Amino acid sequence: MEEVCKPILNTGLRGFKVASTKISDVDGTVGKLVYRGYLVKELAGKISFEEVVSLLLYERLPSKDELAQIKEMLAEERHVPPELISALETRPKDALPMDILQSSVGLLAHHDHDTRELSVEAANRMAIKLIAKFPTIVAAWDRIRNNKKPVEPNPELGHAANFLYMLNGTIPDDELAGFFDVCLVLHAEHSFNASTFAAREVASTRAHMYAAVAAGVGSLSGELHGGANTRVMEMLTDIGSVDHVENYVNNLLESGGIIMGLGHAVYKVDDPRAHILAPMSKVMGERTGDTKWYEMSKELEIKGKEAFKRRKGRDIYANVDFYSASLYYYMGIPMDLFTPIFAIARVAGWAAHVIEEQFGGAASKPVLYRPDSEYIGDYCGPDECSFVPIEKR
Ligand SMILES: CC(C)(COP(=O)(O)OP(=O)(O)OC[C@H]1O[C@@H](n2cnc3c(N)ncnc32)[C@H](O)[C@@H]1OP(=O)(O)O)[C@@H](O)C(=O)NCCC(=O)NCCS
Repeated sequence: MEEVCKPILNTGLRGFKVASTKISDVDGTVGKLVYRGYLVKELAGKISFEEVVSLLLYERLPSKDELAQIKEMLAEERHVPPELISALETRPKDALPMDILQSSVGLLAHHDHDTRELSVEAANRMAIKLIAKFPTIVAAWDRIRNNKKPVEPNPELGHAANFLYMLNGTIPDDELAGFFDVCLVLHAEHSFNASTFAAREVASTRAHMYAAVAAGVGSLSGELHGGANTRVMEMLTDIGSVDHVENYVNNLLESGGIIMGLGHAVYKVDDPRAHILAPMSKVMGERTGDTKWYEMSKELEIKGKEAFKRRKGRDIYANVDFYSASLYYYMGIPMDLFTPIFAIARVAGWAAHVIEEQFGGAASKPVLYRPDSEYIGDYCGPDECSFVPIEKR
């Protein structure tokens, strides 16, 4: 019998709408990103990450009193169980920070009885705890792996400033903390990207918030998703100087490589977040007295776009990871913490989606995700393969 060769199905779910959401909207044709109706480019620089948390979780911008309340709730939840710190102290020092973060999420679940309650109240409490504790875990891990004592969270500081304080042991100035806050605002949410979809898929089984968020962390770690920001910086350090950019880009594309930080599954024009991050990278470069990494990024964007267009006949644009790389580097943040920082912000989006998935009300009706696949394996002829015992194979 003639074998029929079926085409390989490889949709990556592009353009396929799997659920309704009231949390955010991305229009990739015009470069628009909206959190609960607000243009993110309007919010960046005007509101703090804590206000974004309130917007995402509680569906509206907070009043002054509500903001004070959410800041207090987050500050109260910043501590992590001592068992978690002890566990971190026994990890290999070269463990990947995203792996540390993912396993820490599982460990936090052991200490939280809210995991046993399937209610919107418990989910909201778990959301606040995770958002509050992510910076503490990331900063503590960096200090532990460098043989330093973790720095206790400072309840007087905002979310952004406190992270930098716990990482470095010194209180950042207002400009630095403000820039970092903008980064958190920009990275907090982005509709049904890979990690959010992973978190929602886990939530759809009625698994708890920690299980869903751990899936999000795992998904974000990959270099095609959140892991790209670290890879952008590695690329820049490999290139070394502005003069080498063009050659590097051409060689990379020639050998089938990809330019990290360029391209997007949804944006077919500029990513609006890159427009905000690029000037911040420039200012931070000027502040440190070395604009080299910003200038190299700019040149890489130009030469990368040109080379891509020559090869593919179409345009490609810088995404959120492109300029955040040099920006974080200027902030003195270790390269392998760039992706955990993305997670520190995105956990707010994941948590909002988990709550919507499980208790969405008008926004979504809870349903177990169960997609289908096209079997293109063998049937050994018209019928199923007949079983052969191991002795006769
Ligand atoms: C994000 C990404 C995975 C989107 O992929 P996608 O949806 O397949 O992108 P498109 O459909 O626009 O483009 C597909 C083609 O362009 C190529 N392409 C896309 N981005 C590219 C890049 N940055 N460098 C080189 N080639 C790229 C793909 O390899 C593919 O080529 P092919 O048709 O020969 O197989 C991809 O752009 C990428 O890998 N970018 C770099 C990693 C990154 O920055 N990730 C963070 C995203 S926020």
